[in-house]
Amino acid sequence: MTLNLTINGVRVEAEEGESLLDVARRNGFEIPSLCHHEAVAAYGACRLCLVEVTKGGRKKLTTSCNYEVLGGIEVVTESAAIRRHRAMVLELILAEAPESATVKALAAEYGVTRSRFAASGAGEDRDGCILCGLCARVCAEVVGANALTFRKRGDNRQMGTPFVEEPQTCIACGACAWVCPTSCVGFDEQNGERKVHRWKRSLPLAKTEKGHAFAPQFQLFHFRKLAKLEADFYKKAPGER
Ligand code: SF4
Ligand code: SF4
Ligand code: FES
Repeated sequence: MTLNLTINGVRVEAEEGESLLDVARRNGFEIPSLCHHEAVAAYGACRLCLVEVTKGGRKKLTTSCNYEVLGGIEVVTESAAIRRHRAMVLELILAEAPESATVKALAAEYGVTRSRFAASGAGEDRDGCILCGLCARVCAEVVGANALTFRKRGDNRQMGTPFVEEPQTCIACGACAWVCPTSCVGFDEQNGERKVHRWKRSLPLAKTEKGHAFAPQFQLFHFRKLAKLEADFYKKAPGER
């Protein structure tokens, strides 16, 4: 069903079930985000995508990545109050990831060049991780490896492997490093091995007939297994799938 709403005074259309962030961006309105990726479910961790929504005469600030659009709402994506909120959030994020070029550039857009806060994680070194959860969502929902999870609670919360050891289901595909907004995962290939530094995972690379290393053997097994599952699925009659 097509819904009508306004964003910054402009009438736009959306489909039921779409997120406000996707609708706004599709219509050219810029909203910052660090924990959103179109390939995975929204999680609402970074709180940078805050916008103001008026519904039935009541205004509220809400994250737009996990807000399903409704017909008749009025949305404002930029205002002094929204900028103040985003600047505060960025100050907190900058404290956690002071070396991240992405975070520094985004913070500077909101006038934040230093943070008054100390990094959290009493006794635990998060080392640039802002707990956005993107790596774990991509690993589970796109790769299907489920190698990562949140550990501990509160100030000591961490992203990592379930038992703080080399994750046995990790295929070293590098998708987590690719999506990490602070580039804190670390990933390279050396001496015939691919290494995913943050998770301490190293896997030998398979080679072509000419001896060029191209992908971890384990990753190839994983993709062959997925290809077989897919082929078996399509062999079945539609009613049996
Ligand atoms: S490199 Fe490992 S942890 Fe990262 S997405 Fe791939 S399988 Fe998951
Ligand atoms: S490692 Fe990167 S992607 Fe994963 S939760 Fe931390 S900041 Fe997000
Ligand atoms: S993009 Fe919405 S909370 Fe991070």
